[in-house]
Amino acid sequence: MNYDSAFDALSEKLKALLLNSGAGHDYDHTLRVLKNAELLLAEEPGADREVLRFAALLHDCARPEEHASKGQVCHAQRGAVIAAQLLAEANMDEPFCAAVAAAVRSHRYRDGIVPHTPEGKILYDADKLDSLGAVGLGRAFLFAGACGARVHNTPEEALGNEAYGPEDTAYREYLVKLRHLPGAMLTPAGRRMGAERLRFMETFFEQLNEEVYGN
Ligand SMILES: [Fe+2]
Ligand SMILES: [Fe+2]
Repeated sequence: MNYDSAFDALSEKLKALLLNSGAGHDYDHTLRVLKNAELLLAEEPGADREVLRFAALLHDCARPEEHASKGQVCHAQRGAVIAAQLLAEANMDEPFCAAVAAAVRSHRYRDGIVPHTPEGKILYDADKLDSLGAVGLGRAFLFAGACGARVHNTPEEALGNEAYGPEDTAYREYLVKLRHLPGAMLTPAGRRMGAERLRFMETFFEQLNEEVYGN
């Protein structure tokens, strides 16, 4: 199997496929997850690099379908089917297609579908790392902006109100979800890098609180 030429051809397909996926889940996100996966792989050598990088490339391939179905389609489960098809069309062998599809299928860690292969665990952590650190802050503010949310609010305002409204700030996302991510990661390298990126976010929100509410 010629991995490099198949990877390049699939990259072009994904670039087109993810064109209208929204800023948080576009092809740039895929490229960052690929980079994170390579970083984690350097410390988690038990994983297969080719399976991992194809899984990272393909992991959100069904995002547009999930979006179009208003959440009825699970992009991880549907993405596993599409990923297997795309890889078969690229003449990759059956065990390889199955290994990549398994990692894509479990990357949301939802509905009882648990990442259990080394590649699946790294992909999960690589995807979550993109929600942390400076990139995570950028994505959280982009999402809040799309909801029409405020720049900042208090913990009471953030936690006492519904999602998708004016109080669904980046700070709410941090309080409700992002600060819990590193502890739930599946590899030691992911937990360590996640904790480092979380510290940066903590410092950012401390300063934001000081600028907005400090004396
Ligand atoms: Fe995803
Ligand atoms: Fe993703």
